[in-house]
Amino acid sequence: MQSIIFKGLGRYLPETRVTNEVLSQRVDTSDEWIRTRTGIGERRIAQAHETVTFMGTQAAQQALEQAGLKAEQIDLLIVATMSPEMLTPSTACLIQKHLGTRGGAFDIQAACSGFVYALDIATQMLRSGAYQHILVIGTEKLSSFIDWEDRSTCVLFGDGAGAAVLGTLAQTGVGILKNTLGADGQGAGCFEIPAGGSLRPACQQTLSNRDHYIKMNGRELFKTIVPLLEQETLRFLTAQNLTLADIDWIIPHQANVRILESLCKRLDYPMEQVFLNLEHYGNTSAASIPLALMEALEQKKVLPGQTLLLMAFGAGLTWGFSLIKWPL
Ligand code: ACO
Repeated sequence: MQSIIFKGLGRYLPETRVTNEVLSQRVDTSDEWIRTRTGIGERRIAQAHETVTFMGTQAAQQALEQAGLKAEQIDLLIVATMSPEMLTPSTACLIQKHLGTRGGAFDIQAACSGFVYALDIATQMLRSGAYQHILVIGTEKLSSFIDWEDRSTCVLFGDGAGAAVLGTLAQTGVGILKNTLGADGQGAGCFEIPAGGSLRPACQQTLSNRDHYIKMNGRELFKTIVPLLEQETLRFLTAQNLTLADIDWIIPHQANVRILESLCKRLDYPMEQVFLNLEHYGNTSAASIPLALMEALEQKKVLPGQTLLLMAFGAGLTWGFSLIKWPL
């Protein structure tokens, strides 16, 4: 039996940092409000040339380098994004053009859960034996979809990309042990970009209504997500005959520190074992988990032999977990 492992990780973060102080000159907010309500201190905002394709390509090149592989050795490219370059062609094809990977290339859209969704697809495809190396990228330029006049959303998000090369190892019981995905479309209205799709194509009215920007019911999301994550975490771990005591690190989607604090309180899990970097990047949607995982490894917080729980949640509603034993 083979294990599915991370062979390389990579990231790209835009140069431009936008602090809470800078935002408070633009909308009626403050560093104190943003920090206490979200845990965010600054975010990176992409410039015109830093497209999702550019950022995803840069992250992928770094992941390939770390894996010691060439792009031609990749059999499949999966891109998770909710801010694609355009509706069609897929961002995956645009990145493929730069990298020259072999095999298929496609996008998936599961909002902030996108990276874990892509990870599960890649895991199953590698397990099938039909693929050897799969490149998974989470790349987001949410700044293009933020209403910079809406203080309730513009303070939350940031841009960036993370990538992982996945492959197999002839050893059992390490790497990605199990994934699970979930969705509840009843919560779809809590977070949407209402116009620009086939339901409401761009027109003068959608533009003047600012309907091409993110609309979010933050309070409702918060109320829904915390108990949902509590229930799904316990369900997932119980199904693997595990408890939270078996988890060395939770690497969560970096949306809001208060969501994670409330969750940890309910689960009786120490916040010190939840890796956080949202103070520096805000919510980077599908890029947030690979960015956090890479930093946790660099800071030597995650160590070989430890058990990690990747925890994703986002618009849709969607969620996903990945149980990983970091190889020795
Ligand atoms: N600065 C100052 N005041 C603000 C700001 C701001 N940036 N934004 C909102 N306020 C005000 C509101 O207008 C409101 O004022 P009022 O009471 O006079 O009406 C007050 O602050 C409280 O607003 P709430 O929305 O109730 O604030 P809350 O404590 O719920 O915090 C937040 C808002 C941070 C958005 C929170 O609800 C949250 O994080 N929700 C989850 C959102 C989330 O995680 N989204 C991402 C998941 S989906 C995905 O990742 C794609």
